[in-house]
Amino acid sequence: MKLLFATNNAHKLAEVQAVLGPEYELVTPRDCGVTEEIPETQPTLEGNALQKARYLRERTGLDCFADDTGLEVAALDGAPGVRSARYATDGHDFAANNRLLLANLRGAADRRARFRTVVALLRSGEEHLFEGIVEGRIIECERGCEGFGYDPLFVPDGFDRTFAEMSADEKNAVSHRARAVRRLADYLHGLEK
Ligand code: IMP
Repeated sequence: MKLLFATNNAHKLAEVQAVLGPEYELVTPRDCGVTEEIPETQPTLEGNALQKARYLRERTGLDCFADDTGLEVAALDGAPGVRSARYATDGHDFAANNRLLLANLRGAADRRARFRTVVALLRSGEEHLFEGIVEGRIIECERGCEGFGYDPLFVPDGFDRTFAEMSADEKNAVSHRARAVRRLADYLHGLEK
């Protein structure tokens, strides 16, 4: 089954495709002629995921899903949260975001953090939300070069390696996005029965 997923990020596409499995063929906005940046201007992850999915639905008429993720750091009152992509600059500058996060946590004893993903599915005129969370902590300097974003700074609970030191399969076994997408997949598979 073809499913339109609101991302042109190759890392995310590969992660989500691996979790959904081969029975779903993911199609990107670019594949459907949507080349402009999809707006995400809402104050919550739920709002942004719905906004992106509704935008794509209007532009293409296709059933689709969108996700939005935030890194929520306890000692920073949940920041960067919904602003995770644009924490340090207006662009998606991963290195600058990581530097700012480390600066804001300098000397902090409480390094607890979690990634939270919300997936919004628009299907047959209905809207559904799925959430995935992984708890962990922020270490004091970057380690590893896999993945993207805050991966080199985030160690999930139960591990001593960062997401950037894990293979894609290891990350997918526990990650926020994989958990949310597995809930999406369970829902879609349930519809087929
Ligand atoms: P998005 O909503 O998936 O685009 O995520 C927003 C921002 O959160 C990204 O620009 C990254 O900085 C960060 N982020 C999202 N998912 C991950 C992840 O799996 N690892 C590390 N950082 C992530």
